[in-house]
Parts: sequence; structure tokens; C-alpha cells
Amino acid sequence: MSIDVLPLSGTLGAEIFGLDLQSGLSNAEFDRVHQAFLDYKVIVMRGQKALQPDQHKAFARRFGTLNIHPYVKGMKDHPELLEIIKEKEDKVNFGGGWHTDMSFEETPALGSILHAIEVPPYGGDTLFADQQAAYNALSPGLKATLADLKAVHSASREYSTHGSSAQKRQSMETSQAEDAPEYEHPVIRTHPETGRKGLYVNPAFTLRFAGWSMRESKPLLDYLFNLSREERFTCRIRWQAGDVTMWDNRCTWHYALNDYPGHRRHMRRATVNGDKPV
Ligand code: SIN
Repeated sequence: MSIDVLPLSGTLGAEIFGLDLQSGLSNAEFDRVHQAFLDYKVIVMRGQKALQPDQHKAFARRFGTLNIHPYVKGMKDHPELLEIIKEKEDKVNFGGGWHTDMSFEETPALGSILHAIEVPPYGGDTLFADQQAAYNALSPGLKATLADLKAVHSASREYSTHGSSAQKRQSMETSQAEDAPEYEHPVIRTHPETGRKGLYVNPAFTLRFAGWSMRESKPLLDYLFNLSREERFTCRIRWQAGDVTMWDNRCTWHYALNDYPGHRRHMRRATVNGDKPV
């Protein structure tokens, strides 16, 4: 079967056609997918409606070991898979909020693999932003200033009692992260596989620069956050049931749009463990 890769935007994202994740990938097919993942950072594999949890995990394991989320409970028989569900009647602001998965861990996620089980008749798209493109847009002076900085990341803001995930995710079992640990990661991250540099801070989990107060950090972090989500660095996934999208958490942000009130959306996510950012 021939595999076609079609870019989704001028910066990142591609659709891959000609794959059947249910039967598993040959080594040649996996190499093609892996290369597209490194080249495009976000890849969409359409038409995987019958994909079962074990097959979803088997595909994810081609990239590494699977993460068990410390604050969100996974599926009963598949703790590595998170059900991300917005029910029809949920009025809370589900989604919304740019982030990089698991940057609050000491060794954050390499990638996430989201399977669309049920999608609303319209809306519910996911946006992605390329953090290497955002880094490339910085002036040489700001690149030099950021080069030696680290930033403090924690789940405390998102997963604490009043955190946005605890409020939003009514249909997900979350536990609180009042005393979540803090980890320092470099503000500029070198991608372990491609060697490209990118910004590695995000609005959900980055609290401040290491050694700086929150107040001192805010103006520069806000500047970076605003730059990082500029339209020219983004792509948009319009979901169909059965789609599987994988994104590289080492160099992208994502944002789930909440624009389908009164409709259900059901996604299932596997998260692949990564390495310590350098
Ligand atoms: C996520 O943030 O992992 C899920 C994104 C989505 O539901 O589109």
C-alpha cells in the first residue's frame, strides 16, 4: 500500500494516508511515519475507526514506553489511556488553554496520540503551534538572553482544587495536585532527535523563570506566550471520527477548541514518555 503525506499548513502538521493502525505497521511503514512525525511535528492518520485500546497502545509503544498520568485516572483496564470526554450537557469551559502535555514532570512526554471516538457535528477542532518556529522568530539578543535560563514547571495551577482541569474535566476522574513537585527545564530546548532548538515554556504549567519571582517573570513569559501562538506558527485539525493524531510534545503546543455547546466529544489519548529536556 502506498503512503501519502500531505502538509496541513505552511509551518507544521501533515495528514498521512494509506495506513492501517489496526493491523500494525511494518518496519518500513513505521520508519515513514516516524520521519513524518519528526518533519511535521503533528501527524493525522485518518480512518482508524475500529482501532481498539490494545492496538492504540501497540502503535504508541513503537515510539517508547507509555505514561500513566499522575492526576487523571486512565481507563479501567488500560490505565495508560485517558478518556477525554465532553458530555452534551457539560457547560464548563472544556478545552481552551494552550499547553504542552506533561511538562510538569521531570521527564516530560515525547508525544501524545489522540483517537477520535465521537466528534460533534461541527467544531471541536484542535489547534497546534510550532515552538521551534516561534524560537526562530526571536531576535539574536533575546535568544542569547534565554539561552541560559531555566523555567519552573508544575501541575499545581492546572490540577489543584481550583485549577482549570479540576473545573473543566467533569467527566474525567482527576485528583488534586496542591503539593505537586516543581521541576526546572531549559527555556530553550534542543530536540533530542532533530537537534532543532525551540521554546519550551507554556501557559498551563510554566510558573516562572528559575531564580526569578512570579512578578518578574510575568512580562517576559507573557511576551513568549503571545509570540508562541501566533497564527503563522499554527495548524488546525478538523476531526472526523476514527482519526488518530500524534503530536510532538517536545516542540509543539496544542489547544482544544470549545465551540460545540450541546454536543458530545469523546477522545482517547495515549502519552509516550520522553527524556529530560536539554
Ligand atoms: C489534550 O489536550 O490532550 C486533548 C486535546 C483535544 O481534546 O483536542
